[in-house]
Order: sequence, then structure tokens, then C-alpha cells
Amino acid sequence: MAKHTDSNVKALPVLERKPMELDEAALESARHSLDEGAVTPSYGPWREDVIKLLNDSLATELVCVLRYKRHHFTADGLESPKIAEEFLVHANEEAAHADRLAKRIVQLGGEPDFSPDSLSGRSHAAYDDSADLKAMIRANLVAERVAIEAYSQMIALIGDKDTTTRRMLESILSQEQEHADELSDWLED
Ligand SMILES: [Fe+2]
Ligand SMILES: [Fe+2]
Repeated sequence: MAKHTDSNVKALPVLERKPMELDEAALESARHSLDEGAVTPSYGPWREDVIKLLNDSLATELVCVLRYKRHHFTADGLESPKIAEEFLVHANEEAAHADRLAKRIVQLGGEPDFSPDSLSGRSHAAYDDSADLKAMIRANLVAERVAIEAYSQMIALIGDKDTTTRRMLESILSQEQEHADELSDWLED
């Protein structure tokens, strides 16, 4: 084996050593601007974008509540009472997601948009009033898959820009994946 000499060993790049120090000017600014609530200078310039993304997801969750409620009450009496009951469980979990999104929007200084007039236009997922159980399951699976895709994209977009929002979205995403998993099992039965 060839012996390394000085000429064939590459020198490692010397990293510039920046001191790990806090930004004192930003700390001072955090002491003032109290009307910003939980949002401090390190938040960065993407607050409006994050609020818009959260509001679109809020609309999606609210439409999902309506769709699952409709399915719960109309599937009652169809061939699987267990699935009708599970639609209600999902409706309540989507409502809890909506609450978490609205709470975070307010924490970021935004306005949660619950306006019913623009709800379905802003939602990523569609409402559905199918009368057949299989069609209901399929519509819910489509909606869950759309929600999974939207939350995954939001998590990637937000990255380290807002770790509190990202963690919340990750936790909602894992529940949407459970929903989709259940629905696809029922579709196969
Ligand atoms: Fe949800
Ligand atoms: Fe869901």
C-alpha cells in the first residue's frame, strides 16, 4: 500500500470559529414590542406565510369534521355500525386538530378563519354526501391522503423556521396516517 506523503494528503479546511453568542439587540427588542405576544425577533419574516398555511389546514379540518359527521349519521343503519361509530371518532379527532391549529394561529398573532362562506374553497379536502358505505370510506381515504400530503409539505417548508408549529403538524400528521390506514383496511374488507 502506498505510503502517504505530505504531497498526497489533503489539508482539512480550517473552519472559521464564530463565538456562540446570543444576539443582544434581539433580546433587547424582545423586552419591548409586547404586543407581539409569543412572537420574538428570531421568528423571522415568514409569519404571514405560516398563518396562511395554518388557516388553509384549519379550513380542511373543519370540512373533514362536517364530512365525517354527515357520514356518521347517515351510515347509521348501514351494514357496519362499527364503521359508523368510527366516523364519529374521526370527526372528533379532526375537530381537535382544528382547535390546535386555531390556537397556534392566535399565538402567532393571526386571525383563525372560521368563515363558513369560504370554507370549502379554502379546504384542501372535499365534502362528500355519498349514501353508500364503500363510497363514504373511499371519499374519506382520499381526504386523509390529501391532508397527509399537505401536512408533509408544510413540515418540509417550515423546517427549522418554527419548531413549535412543526412539532404540532408532525403530531397531527401521524394521526392522519392512522386514519388513512384504518380506512384502507375497511376498503379491503
Ligand atoms: Fe385532521
Ligand atoms: Fe384525519
